[in-house]
Amino acid sequence: MSRISRAGFRFLKQLSTRGESVCISRHLLCRSSNQFHHQPLFQAHTEMEVLHGGMFQKHHRFCTAATSEEAGEQKQMISVTFVEKDGEEQQIKVPIGMSILEAAHYNDIELEGACEASLACSTCHVIVMDTEYYNKLDDPTDEENDMLDLAFGLTETSRLGCQVIASPELDGIRLALPGATRNFAVDGFIPKPH
Ligand code: FES
Repeated sequence: MSRISRAGFRFLKQLSTRGESVCISRHLLCRSSNQFHHQPLFQAHTEMEVLHGGMFQKHHRFCTAATSEEAGEQKQMISVTFVEKDGEEQQIKVPIGMSILEAAHYNDIELEGACEASLACSTCHVIVMDTEYYNKLDDPTDEENDMLDLAFGLTETSRLGCQVIASPELDGIRLALPGATRNFAVDGFIPKPH
């Protein structure tokens, strides 16, 4: 090892015992094995340079992560169309795992949900427009069926919106909002999204 290299090592050791950040330039290391062998084998970078490099790498990782996160998010959303009482259609994106009631509230769609998903009302009644999609849903529980019995305009493909959870196979589902709901809350309470 050349004198210069040994001096480089000493310098690095001193810096590290003083608690300062150092890193080794691989670029110079490569070059030193060729025509630039007279250059120091290692190069100590200032703390600022190290920090800057670290930030760049971090930022680079962040960008990559954000891109894959975005792609993941897009995959994690399904498309749901609400057909309102007047026939107007509204298509929204719903994250997997979110209930149809929550999704409706987030998108200002008029689906009441008076009991806030505690299965004590039928104001979140929706009608699944395609039997194909209706058959993909889990069977309603007895509690849901009890509440559905109270729903206005009950159909064969009626469900309670708070019990329908977005899942990948429901992508493209169309839900009609019934012409009316029965709200048994004394004051006709309609909750707002949290
Ligand atoms: Fe009351 Fe769905 S909000 S049962």
